[in-house]
Amino acid sequence: MAFSDQFLEDLRGRAGLADVIGRRVKLTKKGREFMGLCPFHKEKTPSFTVNEDKGFYHCFGCGEHGSVFDFVMRTEGLNFPEAVEKLAGEAGMEVPQDSPEQRERNEQRQTLYDVTEKAALFFQNQLLSPAGKQAHDYLINRGLGEDVIRRFRLGFAPDGRNMLKQALAGDGISEDRMIATGMLILPDGQERDSYDRFRGRVMFPITDARDRVIAFGGRILGDQEAGSGVTGRPGADKRAATGTDIKAPKYLNSPETVLFHKGRVLYGLKMASGPARKAGSIIVTEGYTDVIALHQAGFENAVAPLGTALTEDQIKLLWKIVPEPVLCFDGDAAGQKAAARAAERALPLLVSGYGLRFALLPDGEDPDSLIKTGGATAMSQVLDTALPLSEVLWRMETGGRIPKTPEERAALQKRLKDYARQITDSTLRGHFSSQFNDRVWAGAKERAKGYGKGGDKGRTKNAGWAPSMELGGDWAGKTAGKSSDSLKHAQQVLLAIIINHPEIFEGVEETLGQFNFGEGRFDALRQELISVLVKNAELESDGVKDVLRQHGFAESLDVLFRDPMIRSNRIIKVDAPEEKFRPLWNENVALLQHLENAPEIEKIREAGDDGIAEDDWERQKALLQETMPGHRD
Ligand code: UTP
Ligand code: MN
Repeated sequence: MAFSDQFLEDLRGRAGLADVIGRRVKLTKKGREFMGLCPFHKEKTPSFTVNEDKGFYHCFGCGEHGSVFDFVMRTEGLNFPEAVEKLAGEAGMEVPQDSPEQRERNEQRQTLYDVTEKAALFFQNQLLSPAGKQAHDYLINRGLGEDVIRRFRLGFAPDGRNMLKQALAGDGISEDRMIATGMLILPDGQERDSYDRFRGRVMFPITDARDRVIAFGGRILGDQEAGSGVTGRPGADKRAATGTDIKAPKYLNSPETVLFHKGRVLYGLKMASGPARKAGSIIVTEGYTDVIALHQAGFENAVAPLGTALTEDQIKLLWKIVPEPVLCFDGDAAGQKAAARAAERALPLLVSGYGLRFALLPDGEDPDSLIKTGGATAMSQVLDTALPLSEVLWRMETGGRIPKTPEERAALQKRLKDYARQITDSTLRGHFSSQFNDRVWAGAKERAKGYGKGGDKGRTKNAGWAPSMELGGDWAGKTAGKSSDSLKHAQQVLLAIIINHPEIFEGVEETLGQFNFGEGRFDALRQELISVLVKNAELESDGVKDVLRQHGFAESLDVLFRDPMIRSNRIIKVDAPEEKFRPLWNENVALLQHLENAPEIEKIREAGDDGIAEDDWERQKALLQETMPGHRD
């Protein structure tokens, strides 16, 4: 039943989040929030927070979060209406009854679920009957086991005009309802002569979040694809249909119905969401069979849209489960296009802490075929190398190549800026655009100074953009080992720039102060440098070096300035003009921020029970809470 927003709002207020949770979890007040031991996972140090103002609980250990309704649903195993009734009962509130029209609509829907459920059972039985032998063999030959066939409730729509129609009629289901669920096709302008939509196809039931069957996908048996204009197999579809039907598309899906809005549904979601939450990742593939093959290979966290590009609703649905779904696309041109579309669609929706990753499959493979040839290992590899959204946009626009001329560079910058502009979240927009800018500049600079392994040797006119160069290829933080080199290098560059150009300190003090360069000499040097310059802003480069030496940093300075990458870099030298070193400064700041901040959310999750520093924790908590996407209720 549908509850009005007003009623739910009142109930929320009346029930009191902390009161409800406090009955199960011992909560201690901490500032504006309550804290306690998470009831959803085992822990010894509290990482479960309750924020009454925001109306959410959140566990930084296991990622569970939700409203008071979610809490009751999760802890008491109730569905949403049941949780509402329970809370209303406790709060002494009357649950409003639906209006007669609403009730009628609900009842109508209810009877439609009955139709799709009965159809699913009919198809399942057919698959196991002699009539379904060929279809069953087909599935087995494709490598599907009985187990997944049952779990996904695969079936067979027999090859005839009225097979389902007759079977359902025998169950007392009216023709109207069969038409309303899309199970029958009523020829245009006719009132009679409806016939089975699915004929001679393997059937994939599509379920909603509550596991009710709401629609179907049906696949022809075998390889004959006709969607591309090739004439379909001379089988079921042609014969049974109206005669104008000359092609049999590989897959046929239910039409939009009262129960089924394909842009809001993901195939396999009900089965995948538990494992996905547990694993902290969800895989989005393109096809039904991919979901099933993945599931069978142990990736139970896989879903697919229904033959269309990923919609906003679907992206939001995914974000309710994990912060960074991984989209799998074919490595071919069509796959790249689909990836590009998904990337563009996600941009306006982005909020910090939520993103998408893109896994590119080898050309011509889908997860199903990849698993067949390379097993779960091959699939894991593909998933492990998934790229973040910003990297995909970058590659889309550059193909990994930085343009040679200033004009081309400006054009590239504009295109990237257009992407960044689509991001509505202002903080994120800033990060994206500065990252893009810095990358364009980094590329330009690599080109100019021929930065590479061999110092002077690399300084040739033609030293082009190579993605493996430190500032370029590592940018995405793809390879953990390399990114630590980049990190160190960037830190050194910043230190050297400030020491050689202390006049910019005032403007960058905060930036420099926010970093932590980790263990070792360079963080000590950073701290000392700040304290020296805060006390004496007038110092010039030589003066700064003198003071640092006096303070025991002679060796650190030597190490820093003897580093070949620093020594050979003219842009850093004392006599370099600001317009030269400033972009280098910015780009390394952005690189550091990127490398340090990208795994921010992950860190919170991983830290879990072991705890993380208090203020760090506060900051990250705020970040998460701000960005928690909306909740179902
Ligand atoms: P694919 O052609 O990649 O499907 O289309 P697949 O799942 O790999 O098919 P198999 O392995 O040959 O059985 C991806 C998805 O696009 C939709 C379906 O949802 C399919 O799963 N589709 C495809 C259609 O809706 N109609 C079509 O004719 C083809
Ligand atoms: Mn396939």
